[in-house]
Amino acid sequence: MAYLSTTDFFEDQNFFDRWRRNLKGDLDLSWMHTKTEKLAATPENPRRGLTLRDLDKNGYGFSEMPEFVRDNRSFAPRGAELPDGLPDVQAAVSQKGEVWAYNTEGYYEEAMTRQWNATLDVPWAEMAKAELPDEIARAYAQLLTFLTEVEMIATDVPAEWMGKLNNNFMEVKNFMATQVMDEARHAEVFRKRALTTGCGLMKASPYNEMSLKQIRDADSFAEMSLALHLVGEGVVLTLFRFSEYIAPTDADKKMFRLIMQDEARHVGYGVQHLKWVMRHFPEKREVIHKHLDETENMVFGGGYALEVTEPFIILAGKGLKKENIEQGAKITALFQMKQIEEYFERLDKCGLSERRKRSKLHNALEFTRAALQEAGVLA
Ligand SMILES: [Fe+2]
Ligand SMILES: [Fe+2]
Repeated sequence: MAYLSTTDFFEDQNFFDRWRRNLKGDLDLSWMHTKTEKLAATPENPRRGLTLRDLDKNGYGFSEMPEFVRDNRSFAPRGAELPDGLPDVQAAVSQKGEVWAYNTEGYYEEAMTRQWNATLDVPWAEMAKAELPDEIARAYAQLLTFLTEVEMIATDVPAEWMGKLNNNFMEVKNFMATQVMDEARHAEVFRKRALTTGCGLMKASPYNEMSLKQIRDADSFAEMSLALHLVGEGVVLTLFRFSEYIAPTDADKKMFRLIMQDEARHVGYGVQHLKWVMRHFPEKREVIHKHLDETENMVFGGGYALEVTEPFIILAGKGLKKENIEQGAKITALFQMKQIEEYFERLDKCGLSERRKRSKLHNALEFTRAALQEAGVLA
């Protein structure tokens, strides 16, 4: 198989000879006698079509995949024969527990059936008709600028990691490909909406971007996924629900609902991945707490940056007058409490209930609660 070690196929005599024999009808046909499993996959439910789960069979499947898949170091699809001479693509991640989540294949199928179009599915014409008061338009444009920054990092990070995963993890890689598409669409939507407000884009946020950079700089896939899918996108999902609530028009609410259906899927993967890790590697609990310490710091820095909290206060209070601001600040504080509560609830589902006590976000929660009690909003 020496011919595969050269990069100059035009100068390779073996390669040429083989081709010449082919032209004369002298075929090799060794590929016809591979020892791979022969099976005919069929849709379990014909109405649903042929799903990835229908292909979960024997050596082709994901259920019986071993924890380490380093025997495949190439681009070969899982289940193919691996002859000598395949290139070593040096996948950085070849351990299943680093990437696997319950229902990975289901999240991919859902992503494929629920794709939408930012150009056509958002009621742009309806939005264009709505005249927003100046301070509302500016606050909204600032929020949209902040959200565009978030979506751009959310596009870059899974794209960067996809090619580092062993090719046996095709369900995870395909899911990440859909996430890259989803996040690119979100960045597109927020940019488009900012440019329809009449204010254009507003100010980039140093705290937000410093926090987001930490996700990009994660040392491992598992660490990145914890920071991006579970923590980052989790708090962003609550933030989108709040944005829907305070959005200035019904058309904007629809825009946020479309985005949330994608975002919920990304968070779903993050939760199901951490659940998988806690079930199969309970000894990682302390390491996960350490990562959460770092990630919560990031969330606090980005999520409480003034480039997002002040627009929220103005949008929630519906203006810049003193009474608007007071009202908006209370509503925003209630949202921030809900955001942290929902974060802890996600960790409860993964079996990390003790996080409530250990987390510094717990202090932020209590701080906000005390402020609201003092203002007479909470009993
Ligand atoms: Fe997104
Ligand atoms: Fe996302």
